[in-house]
Amino acid sequence: MTVHIGAEQGQIAETVLMPGDPYRARWAAETFLEGAELVNEVRGMLGFTGTYKGNRVTIQGSGMGMPSISIYANELIRDYGAKTLIRIGSCGGMQPHVKVRDVVIAMTCTTVGTPSNTIFRELNYSPCADYGLLEAAVAAARGRDVGVHVGGIYSSDTFYDERPDLNKEMTRHGILGVEMEAAELYTLANRYGVRALGIMTVSDHLQTGEALPSDQREKTFGDMVEIALEAAFA
Ligand code: HPA
Repeated sequence: MTVHIGAEQGQIAETVLMPGDPYRARWAAETFLEGAELVNEVRGMLGFTGTYKGNRVTIQGSGMGMPSISIYANELIRDYGAKTLIRIGSCGGMQPHVKVRDVVIAMTCTTVGTPSNTIFRELNYSPCADYGLLEAAVAAARGRDVGVHVGGIYSSDTFYDERPDLNKEMTRHGILGVEMEAAELYTLANRYGVRALGIMTVSDHLQTGEALPSDQREKTFGDMVEIALEAAFA
C-alpha cells in the first residue's frame, strides 16, 4: 500500500492505463479486460487489474490535472514497479483539421509548468513520448475508422482559461489539442526510465465550440482504449 493506492504488492500490473475519470477506469476494465478485479478505491480513485489477450493490465484513474496524475504515476512507478503508463483521456481540439471524435497521440507536451518545475528551474524541459509506444499506437490506430493525429499537445493547468491568448499561440504554433495531465506523466516516465504515452479523444473543439454528445463518448473512448492496449503489447 502507498499513501494514495491501497493495492497490495503484486496487484498492480507492469502496464497501466490511466484515464482521468475513475468511472471510466471501471467501464474500460469491465469492457476490455478479462477477470478485472478492483485493486484500489482510496479516495474513490478506482483501479482495476485484469488481462487483455492474456497480458496483465491495470487501469487506474489519475484524477484531473498534473498534480493529481503526478501522485498516482509516482507511486505506480516507484512503489509498484509500473513500466508502461498510457494516459487515455480527452482533449480539446486546437486545429481546424483536428475534429471532435478524432484521436490525438502526443509526441510532446508544451506547458507553462509541471509539478517538476522545481527541478528544472530555468530550463524549458521538453516532455517527450516513448517512441516505441508511439509507433505501436499509430500502427494500431491505422486500421480503424477514426481520424488520427500525431504531434504536439498543450498540457494546461486550467480548464477555465483566463488567458485566451495562450490558446491562440498554441494554435498558431501547430499544437493539436489541450488537456491537463500528459506533460507530467512523460516527465516522470523519462526520469525513472519507463515508457509513457498519451492518447486522447477530442471531446470538444476550442475554435468551433462543438462538443461530443455524451451518448457518443463511449464508442470513441473505446477506440482509444483498444489502441492503447494494442500498443502496450505490440
Ligand atoms: N481544456 C483542457 N482540458 C481539456 C479540454 C479543454 O478544453 N477538453 C478536454 N480536456
